[in-house]
Amino acid sequence: MPRAGDVAHPWVMDRIETLLAAMTLDEKIGQLNMVTSHYAVTGPVVAGDSTEGIRAGRIGNLLNHWGAAAVRDIQRVAVEETRLGIPLLLGFDTVHGQRTIFPIPLGEAAAFDPALWEATAREAAIEAAEDGLAMTFAPMLDVARDPRWGRIAEGPGEDPLVAARIADAKVRGFQGADLAAADAVAATAKHFVAYGAATAGRDYASADISERTLNEVYLPSFAAAVAAGVAAVMPSFNDVAGMPMTAHVPLLRDWLRRTLGFEGVIVSDYDAITELVRHGIAEDVVAAAALALNAGVDIDMMGDAYARGLAPALAHGLVTMATIDASVRRVLRLKERLGLFEDPYRRGAVPDAGRRTARRALAREAGRRSVVLLSNRGDVLPLRSGLRRIAIVGPLADARADMRGSWSAAGEATDPVTILEGTAAALPQAQVAHAPGVAIEGGDRDGIPAALEACRDADVVLLCLGEAAAMSGEASCRADPGLPGEQRALAEAVLALGKPVVVLLSCGRPLTVSWLVARADAVLVTWFLGSEAGNAIADVLTGAFNPSGKLPVTWPEHVGQVPIFYGQRPSGRPANPADHYTSKYLDLPVEPLFPFGHGLSYGRFTLSSLGASPAEIGPDGAIEVSVEVANEGERAGETVVFLFIRDPVASVARPVLELKDFTRVALAPGERTTVRWSLPVAALSFLGPDLQPVLEPGRFVLLAGQSAERAALLSAEVTLAG
Ligand code: GLC
Repeated sequence: MPRAGDVAHPWVMDRIETLLAAMTLDEKIGQLNMVTSHYAVTGPVVAGDSTEGIRAGRIGNLLNHWGAAAVRDIQRVAVEETRLGIPLLLGFDTVHGQRTIFPIPLGEAAAFDPALWEATAREAAIEAAEDGLAMTFAPMLDVARDPRWGRIAEGPGEDPLVAARIADAKVRGFQGADLAAADAVAATAKHFVAYGAATAGRDYASADISERTLNEVYLPSFAAAVAAGVAAVMPSFNDVAGMPMTAHVPLLRDWLRRTLGFEGVIVSDYDAITELVRHGIAEDVVAAAALALNAGVDIDMMGDAYARGLAPALAHGLVTMATIDASVRRVLRLKERLGLFEDPYRRGAVPDAGRRTARRALAREAGRRSVVLLSNRGDVLPLRSGLRRIAIVGPLADARADMRGSWSAAGEATDPVTILEGTAAALPQAQVAHAPGVAIEGGDRDGIPAALEACRDADVVLLCLGEAAAMSGEASCRADPGLPGEQRALAEAVLALGKPVVVLLSCGRPLTVSWLVARADAVLVTWFLGSEAGNAIADVLTGAFNPSGKLPVTWPEHVGQVPIFYGQRPSGRPANPADHYTSKYLDLPVEPLFPFGHGLSYGRFTLSSLGASPAEIGPDGAIEVSVEVANEGERAGETVVFLFIRDPVASVARPVLELKDFTRVALAPGERTTVRWSLPVAALSFLGPDLQPVLEPGRFVLLAGQSAERAALLSAEVTLAG
């Protein structure tokens, strides 16, 4: 009997088919089963030791098991102690780093830098493969416009084009040029789909959205991931308009597999198949297993739905052996593409120490580029080099483990550089006074006097506020995303001292802190920047790096404005404070505190001379767009220029702005350059009333700017001939 590893065996002409023909039903179901190990807990149910299940062929895949030796040991059980020797597929949530932790994805999105996005994924893949892993459950591609939703931290922000660019970059980074390479891991586009549209910002809640919004906002990032060759897709826990994604035939079988031609593996989210019973569309685990398999879900992650339900489902004619075989074939195919049959022990190489040093430097670079300077009154930043006395207060000043953010993978809690450490190292001449003042949460204000004492002689105060890492991420939603605990009391007391105050916000989401922004001299969003957090932040504080981060998500004034995003439709009564009968609030502005794309630098970049030609365009070809960008500051720096369109009259009400491209620009002081885009006319198309792509003649406005701030955008018009 040929064994999986017997590549030389004359029988193994087509390994997959040969194996399939030899497999028992239990062994087939085993290949559709992914069980969690004990190296991390990432869901509500856990498993015991899987060794016996692997040996018996009932478990063909693992998650949450890493480390070269540990992986080699468990892989050996599968390869040498089972009847057919089919190697295990081991997956893990290497979302923004494995051991070297990079900024959380929402923070890294602020860099608007596809090359950086790909580079950090590549390095994360190398470390994951060194730990013996062959699959990551990343990138997370869920567009999100609601900061109450905790998983906004893990995603690409509010814009579908940015999400699509991140999808492309991350899939390429994780998978590399050859999926069989020892440093490549299979990427998993997740969570398919519209998970970020959760009702009321509550995780796992229904996404009750229109077909139009589904197609215009939430599907594009997954189409981009498939186009980039993503190896796997993970359906989301939620239902979309009542149909749970784990059983969603139109989106899984029809759109993903048939329309997009996705031939990879669909792996359920954690126990999501069994949860179809709770969704109320399956009477029991047998029905749940049948629904998921028939929708195209190949692997049951950490449920036992397939293990318990598929054989009875087959016996009752709810599924066919052909459908089971099709799923097993896809799983075996992925293992073959990963090179696991040729060499199951290929991954788990000795870490390259030299590369690890370079990787830390990349983590620092990614951190610096992710920081967003929201405000800088009186140019209080960058800190003067001769600064003699600085107070660094607040509960995040010396927070170390939290700097990893959510999904910290195998990153050690002791690894990150704290804000206090990084800043003190960058200002060796300064006297640094530190006090936490208050905890991140809780009602204790007793530490505030000591914090004020620490500020007493300071020339400037760094006020390090925000969330704990665990306050965002999965199942970590906040109905009121302000500053937790008694941090406001601390901030008010520090601000009352009348000293220059620079606020650093460590957070996984936009925080509703308009009261603080109004009073602080400067506010920086530092997200959770990972291993090199403190050094990256210090680079920005001291001006060693000129901040260039831009908000990938609109920053609300108040949670009552949510969902709030730049691409709203105009309404027949657009907001006008001066006109009663318009779309506005009596008690709040409709404008956000900061728009999508907002981010200051220590200089000034200006745009001028937007051009778009030809003025009259036909249905083919491209519009040549150009805009002048000048660095009018005294420092070298970078900015991001966004290209939007507005389709003022169409057969469907179009958003007030639609992002069509973005470009980072680096300029020396006084330097100017021309940014050029060649925008295909096809990019002006949209989904017509029948949800089919349509290109309609008429006027189109092209707009360029450094954010979605409408008043600051340059505009030019072109006309598409009828
Ligand atoms: C979790 C998450 C998913 C993750 C999986 C495995 O529930 O929803 O993002 O990849 O389980 O940890």
